Amino acid sequence: MATRCNAPAHCPTNPYAQGESRIAATFNDTQLSSNGLACASCHSGDQRYQTTLEQTYPHQVAMGMNLYGMNEVHADEMVQICMVNPMAGDTLDWASMDLAALAAYVVDVQQDYGGPQQK
Ligand code: HEC
Repeated sequence: MATRCNAPAHCPTNPYAQGESRIAATFNDTQLSSNGLACASCHSGDQRYQTTLEQTYPHQVAMGMNLYGMNEVHADEMVQICMVNPMAGDTLDWASMDLAALAAYVVDVQQDYGGPQQK
């Protein structure tokens, strides 16, 4: 299996190469969804996450288990699960800057949320 994008250092593209503002912009981008939502529509202020976010990736997430029977998800897979379901969009290219940026954002949020250091 390809190396998963659980920490920015492991992503196929380095999201920080384009700066933190690019990462935040991706999280706020309504163009990624088909329903006018951005990731931030649900998750600004760290809303809607469950306590599983405190665990190192990969870990089990209820949405991944309930919809896909996945015992555990990696950070980039969690982005894809929210892309396809709440965002009603398409999966992002696994090697894309958008996916790397969102995975990086998620890992940053996780650290604020009381999760482990994974950078
Ligand atoms: C319509 C609301 C909605 C939108 C939009 C949305 N999500 Fe989520 N997201 C959720 C809900 C609900 C959960 C809780 C799922 C669970 O814990 O089973 C969640 C959980 C998560 C988690 C935490 C999983 C864990 O490890 O516990 C991450 C990370 C995440 N979303 C990232 C994103 C990203 C990135 C986007 C944009 C591509 C996005 N979400 C868009 C509703 C949304």
